[in-house]
Amino acid sequence: MADPTILGLESSCDDTAAAIVRGREILSSVVMGQSELHAAFGGVVPEIAARAHAEKLDLAVEQALEEAGLGTREVDAIAVTAGPGLIGGVLSGVMMAKGLASALGKPLIGVNHLAGHALTPRLTDGLCYPYLMLLVSGGHCQFLIVRGAEDFSRLGGTIDDAPGEAFDKTARLLGLPQPGGPQVEAAARGGEAARFAFPRPLLDREGCDMSFSGLKTALLRLRDRLVAEQGGLHPADVADICAGFQAAVRDVLVEKTGRALAAYLAERPEQPAFAIAGGVAANGAIRSGLESLCDRTGVRFTAPPLPLCTDNAAMIAYAGGELLGAGQVSDMTLAARPRWPLDRSAAPMLGSGRKGAKA
Ligand code: KG4
Ligand code: ZN
Repeated sequence: MADPTILGLESSCDDTAAAIVRGREILSSVVMGQSELHAAFGGVVPEIAARAHAEKLDLAVEQALEEAGLGTREVDAIAVTAGPGLIGGVLSGVMMAKGLASALGKPLIGVNHLAGHALTPRLTDGLCYPYLMLLVSGGHCQFLIVRGAEDFSRLGGTIDDAPGEAFDKTARLLGLPQPGGPQVEAAARGGEAARFAFPRPLLDREGCDMSFSGLKTALLRLRDRLVAEQGGLHPADVADICAGFQAAVRDVLVEKTGRALAAYLAERPEQPAFAIAGGVAANGAIRSGLESLCDRTGVRFTAPPLPLCTDNAAMIAYAGGELLGAGQVSDMTLAARPRWPLDRSAAPMLGSGRKGAKA
């Protein structure tokens, strides 16, 4: 039987997205960002986000259908992010999806946003289960062994900030524009990482948990000391601070990934594979650190293209397709969930990122 055509909706944070996916083929993927609406507030304002989602979701769906060259009748099922995330936005998506599913008489599939990210390497690279995933962005940071569309083991994650958040704060402290990640990476290129010693938090502690908030404090102190001593920062200081900070994040991620890989490889997977996703996956230094770790351990390294690493609806449609194949459809009682851990047996996270706790 031909793969079903799935319309996916995503509205759990600050991107309103709709996409149409058939099997592993992305027929269209529309992402409407809201950063300009939140720029003046220094973070995502939930009420503004929810209103913008409610206004833009139908436009995103229309555009996704048009780009795919399909009418609503040609869609076989509606998949929607039902959590975790900012509840107002998630609700907008779930209500839109319920309306479409009932008007068209098609199945409704509630998808966990984190499962969407975690299944992306199957969409982009056809990875087989089980594989190890590091989800690392401004809102997420966790290691998952992905065993099935609804079967995840969380090996560890950040106990405070997400790395993307730390990159953004670093940029802010150094007077660089937002989003900070690409700016810090560019500045770090001309810098000397060894000039300033940054901490590598939690490396001395067993397991895969990470912490990034101490880096920010170290950076603040260093900046204030340099400003007091020299009356300001020279461009070379900014470059060296960025290089030192980025090297510290890379070292923590590489070391903890090594530990997560050891736990994963102990299960003797037939085709060992590691995938990174999230905005921070764009960072060349982090990416190449992880890629060479995988080379050394004989594990396939995968990093989906950036538009599919960051929030999008193609991942939700794809995950919805896997759930539909497994008979996991929802009904009109589908609820929007602000929290929805992928691994229900793992301890809850203490915190995770500027966009609110996600797991
Ligand atoms: O996945 P994403 O678009 O959104 C969520 O946070 O959910 O990730 C955005 C984050 C931002 O914090 C941004 O600074 C970071 O990813 N980022 C990077 C780079 N590009 C984006 N961090 C480090 N290096 C980069 N090149
Ligand atoms: Zn996300």
